Amino acid sequence: LTRGGARRFIAVPRELFVPHFFAPDRDRPGWRSVKGDDEWRTALYTDTVLVTQLGGDDRAADAIRRGEPVYALPTSSSSAPSLMAAMLEALAIGDDMRVLEIGTGTGYNAALLSHRLGAVNVTTVEVDAVLSARARTALATAGYEPTLVVGDGAAGYEPNAPYDRVLATVAVPAVPAAWVEQTQVDALLLVPLTFAGRGGLMALLQRTPTGATGRFLGQYGGFMSVRGVPPESASKADAELLGTPRPTDMPVEVVTDRHPASFFVSLSCPPFRTMTLFPDDGAPAQTWCHGDGSEFVLVADDGRVTVAADGPLWDKVEAAYQLWNELDQPARESFGLTVEPDRQWVWLSEPGSAQSWPVPL
Ligand SMILES: C[S@@+](CC[C@H](N)C(=O)[O-])C[C@H]1O[C@@H](n2cnc3c(N)ncnc32)[C@H](O)[C@@H]1O
Repeated sequence: LTRGGARRFIAVPRELFVPHFFAPDRDRPGWRSVKGDDEWRTALYTDTVLVTQLGGDDRAADAIRRGEPVYALPTSSSSAPSLMAAMLEALAIGDDMRVLEIGTGTGYNAALLSHRLGAVNVTTVEVDAVLSARARTALATAGYEPTLVVGDGAAGYEPNAPYDRVLATVAVPAVPAAWVEQTQVDALLLVPLTFAGRGGLMALLQRTPTGATGRFLGQYGGFMSVRGVPPESASKADAELLGTPRPTDMPVEVVTDRHPASFFVSLSCPPFRTMTLFPDDGAPAQTWCHGDGSEFVLVADDGRVTVAADGPLWDKVEAAYQLWNELDQPARESFGLTVEPDRQWVWLSEPGSAQSWPVPL
């Protein structure tokens, strides 16, 4: 973080934007609410993501207040300040630039942008009207009035185009055409991409006359996916139905997004969902993967991994992992993305490389 960047973070009080957050419960599975105490104050100025909405509305917060267990998934958060700073710096935001942010959330990032550029240059889109209204109040209290739009961020916001920068704080399966169309040539776009929820990829693209192209950042940016993409249900079938387990060299982490090859496997395989089950009898955890009309299960026991599979998904995942090894285990920043009106593809090393993978649109 540059000194100027650090000053901007200190100038905008995060507590206005995060009046409370959710943290994992200490005593049982589920969430608790943290508000107004020392833990809250410390967390606000710690480099950590703070979950601000669960399950898409306020019902989870109400249930926690009533003392009920809540297991809902996070649907809005204030990102970790170091990740926000890395994104702002990668975009090299300069004086008078017009910025489109996707995913207003708490409004904290919109406040940082407004502080840097003047609110007149900042447009931010949020799909959740309640969150947008809260962000508007917090931004006004901090003294900023950027353009707040309620709607699907995939449409961008044409009335304030063209933009010099597009900053998405929610992950998309492919780059929406509107984001490219609403920028001028040479504009920069920073877009978290998710291939079936894995990867933590962030593409830094430069607008070209026909589309946009650029590399992935080396940093992991695990953003929540855009709302409105229904999850495929994961299978809970009996492992034995999948046939005889056999050993594999592939670590389980490859499918749980904790391995350097995770993004590559998700990129070059059909979409698949992962779920880990912990058997009641203390047997080793089973990681189930489901997609492409078939499934497989991985079990790690004593450092050895076995797989039982039915159908094509496992063959594709295993082949992708082998290819990643044969390619000398390339890091995420060795890859890039090119967007054209009718197709998008990820490439290794250079845009014209023979090693390339289409992004499903
Ligand atoms: C990680 S949070 C954004 C953090 C925010 N920039 C901040 O500073 O607090 C992601 C946000 O994207 C929003 N979102 C999800 N799908 C969206 C969509 N299709 N269009 C616009 N916003 C969306 C979520 O409601 C959530 O508030």
